[in-house]
Amino acid sequence: MKGLLKFITCGSVDDGKSTLIGHMLYDAKLIFTDQEKALEMDSKIGSNDGEPDYSLLLDGLMAEREQGITIDVAYRYFTTENRSFIVADTPGHEEYTRNMAVGASFADLAILLTDASKGVLIQTRRHLRICALMGIKHFVFVINKMDIVDYDKRVFEKIKADIMDLMEDIEYENIYVIPVSATKGDNLTTLSDKTPWFDGVPLLEYLENIDTESENTDKPFVMPVQRVCRPDRTFRGFQGQIEEGTVKPGDKITALPSGETAVVTEVYVCDNMVRQAISGQPVTICIDREMDISRGCVIVGETDAKVANLFRSQVLWMDDEPLQTGKSYYLKIGTKKILASITRVCHGIDINSGKRVTCDTLNKNEIGVCEIMTADKVVLAQFSKINSLGCFILIDGESNMTSACGVVKRELNREDNVVWQDMDITREIREKELGQKAKTVWFTGLSGAGKSTLANALEKRLLMLGKHTMILDGDNVRHGLNSNLSFGEEDRAENIRRIAEAARLINDAGIIVLVSAIAPYEKDRRNAADIIGEAFREVYVSTPKEECAKRDVKGLYAKAERNEIKDFTGVNSPYEIPHNADLVIDTTGKEINDCVDELMKLFIED
Ligand code: ADX
Repeated sequence: MKGLLKFITCGSVDDGKSTLIGHMLYDAKLIFTDQEKALEMDSKIGSNDGEPDYSLLLDGLMAEREQGITIDVAYRYFTTENRSFIVADTPGHEEYTRNMAVGASFADLAILLTDASKGVLIQTRRHLRICALMGIKHFVFVINKMDIVDYDKRVFEKIKADIMDLMEDIEYENIYVIPVSATKGDNLTTLSDKTPWFDGVPLLEYLENIDTESENTDKPFVMPVQRVCRPDRTFRGFQGQIEEGTVKPGDKITALPSGETAVVTEVYVCDNMVRQAISGQPVTICIDREMDISRGCVIVGETDAKVANLFRSQVLWMDDEPLQTGKSYYLKIGTKKILASITRVCHGIDINSGKRVTCDTLNKNEIGVCEIMTADKVVLAQFSKINSLGCFILIDGESNMTSACGVVKRELNREDNVVWQDMDITREIREKELGQKAKTVWFTGLSGAGKSTLANALEKRLLMLGKHTMILDGDNVRHGLNSNLSFGEEDRAENIRRIAEAARLINDAGIIVLVSAIAPYEKDRRNAADIIGEAFREVYVSTPKEECAKRDVKGLYAKAERNEIKDFTGVNSPYEIPHNADLVIDTTGKEINDCVDELMKLFIED
């Protein structure tokens, strides 16, 4: 039997969330006879024309039945022959974003409902982004109400294509798109003969078999300490739940933040000494020496956990009061609670399109990237590496309300004795002086796509308009600042980071920066966007590889084809296409002046 599956259902009011799960339970004979009777009775006086209203099975809350919407997170448990499930049924309305985030934070998989007659709505995009923010990697898109569209394959395929477009900038491991009718029961527990064109498995079978936790045990050991257990002078153990990996006597561990190391001598699960404990189990661990460990510390094996007092994060703001930089909040991460403040809002993220938006605060239900400083060093990790040490909440000390939840993108290593000096002459003053708004226009694309040519032509146009500019060209920067870097994935990341930091400094001088650098990896471009903040504009120079190779100005494609260059982008190293660029330009057969006209659109608002 597979392990427990925790999932969340997301959908708008009328998408049929509760009906879907209710009907699945009914068909799988997972409800008791008296519930079945009550269901029939209720439906007779309900609004469903005497047909059983399966949503009644799920709608535990009276208020929901009255209002017709789910207002809180309702958790249901059910077990089939093959698996146990917990489902968080959460409200879809925008004002209940908080509840959805709470539900999503507990789930491994999200079921997102779409009405076949309506297709992908803004709601779907919002739900998807919140689930992704909370770390869900397994997605099931249920295209419901197929009966209304006559089980038309084309409708399904069109919605499926739209969904695949949506997923392009979302990190995920599995995605399953399934046509169903929650009221009629098609494809819930058995395949429907109404959709002979669908070659998947019924929803329940998919949920029974999906593997969401296989990677967990071979990860490095992580256990945030909840309690130090000292019943008498002879025993001292550290208690907590194993968030990741395994532990056994003989393992070498490190206590963070102190960095002290020790060897595990005994491991207990409940009161029993065990040979090994695994992820998910609550344990008591004894070690071979005295160490200063208390609640909030984290015991780890060899891991990516970091110790920092400043980090960049993506947050979902949930407070009625807008975010205030500099205000003190309590940050809760792992088992640690500590004072913290948001030092900078780098940018907002449009919840529908995923695009960056310029802002210096976040309002309720908005997502953005911020820098957070804690009063002391805390143990944290990039969320994608260690979920449990990468997600946090911010609590308002006065109201005791959760103001935000978020995930760590990366720690910002700043030495203990380095502080930020605020200068009197700010970027704004310099911009005013120069009569322009500082920006970084980043040209990304294959070698030979025309990035440098475009940057050069744009710079000349800007100069004619009296603007002050600077070009950072990938090739040129690699002669000096980045001359120690190669073209491997890590070095490229560092190349982009340094160029972005340089661009930000030049922007601080009020100057417009034009960067031309391949920047083939999405994560590096996102990092650059975070560093540069609201001034960042991305231009994808989409000239196809064939055209670039044909031009081959530097003769590099020919060399790469002959295997004389390794890691050459587009030939033997990947280029990840940007999906959120502010502008896309294919230079094939285009006049350079026309391209510059288009680029000038980026400066319209100034
Ligand atoms: S990036 O990938 O790290 O952004 P960057 O733009 O700085 O690359 O440098 C790319 C330039 O280096 C190319 O225009 C090309 O002239 C040269 N180059 C040399 N080797 C490679 C390679 N293996 N892959 C890509 N570009 C290379």
